[in-house]
Amino acid sequence: MSQPVVAQSLVKRFGDFVAVDGIDFEIEPGETFAMLGPNGAGKTSTMRMVATISEPTSGELTILGLDARTDGPAIRNRLGVVPQEDHLDIELTVQENLMMYARYFGHSWSDARARAAELLEFAQLADRPTSLVEPLSGGMKRRLTIARALVNDPELVLLDEPTTGLDPQARQLLWDRLYELKERGISQLLTTHYMDEAEQLADRLVIMDGGKIVAHGSPSDLIRSSVTKEVVELRLDGVSSDDLPDGLRTERLRQRTLVYTDDSATTMAQIRASGIEPTNVLIRRSTLEDVFLKLTGHELVD
Ligand SMILES: Nc1ncnc2c1ncn2[C@@H]1O[C@H](COP(=O)(O)OP(=O)(O)OP(=O)(O)O)[C@@H](O)[C@H]1O
Ligand SMILES: [Mg+2]
Repeated sequence: MSQPVVAQSLVKRFGDFVAVDGIDFEIEPGETFAMLGPNGAGKTSTMRMVATISEPTSGELTILGLDARTDGPAIRNRLGVVPQEDHLDIELTVQENLMMYARYFGHSWSDARARAAELLEFAQLADRPTSLVEPLSGGMKRRLTIARALVNDPELVLLDEPTTGLDPQARQLLWDRLYELKERGISQLLTTHYMDEAEQLADRLVIMDGGKIVAHGSPSDLIRSSVTKEVVELRLDGVSSDDLPDGLRTERLRQRTLVYTDDSATTMAQIRASGIEPTNVLIRRSTLEDVFLKLTGHELVD
């Protein structure tokens, strides 16, 4: 089986502006692979090249063993694409949106109807076939867009920020659907600026910033190799973080000071022994957000 995506020295330039600055990554069959990064990192620009709707400026890009530059139509037949914005047809019902797509891929009307019914089941919209798109919740629209991307039985599904703007419950439902796709062996490339989403879903990920890949690996490997096990988050009203005891590994954010440690109890004892009593203390395990902060010096989501 050929690899879903192989990108080598991939570049996308818009005029003089370099949106994707020579990135390398490979996705293995069946893998869920994430691109995590803040606004403007180059995620969508990369996604559009993988979707073969934007031509690489330079570098190599192979999708499902085919050349993204020359084999666009053959690649697109085997891809499912969930763009950053839902482009559902608001004139049509939920079921018709799926059926039109199935027709577009050459299914007969009866096949299209059967396919739509199956996909509505998958998207947990089986009770809404005749609803128009507009009254659906954000989560429902997103699930319908995913269902539509599955019409042609894709081997690789591209999801550009699948849960941005959804409430926590809608996100959970959607994540659950993406797990289901994984169980079916469908490879996934997703972008997100939520570190918890990357941690939950991705087998492996790249962290992008300013068009470059700043780190790659599995979520747990990245956390283990880049940061300590635990983080103590302090609010230090009226105290400067410069007054904290020497030797602590700290990051100062706008509202909080983070202290990286493998032993938060000892670290807190040390801080209190120095006479500092924080207004608030939160002890948590390290996350990909800490990895991002360490590697780039700025916050992932502001
Ligand atoms: N068609 C275009 N013409 C000029 N500049 C562009 C174009 N598309 C994207 N860019 C620029 O390229 C950079 C990367 O954009 P891109 O959309 O890939 O980022 P992103 O990581 O998807 O960000 P977001 O999280 O906001 O979706 C941005 O600075 C953006 O303004
Ligand atoms: Mg984007």
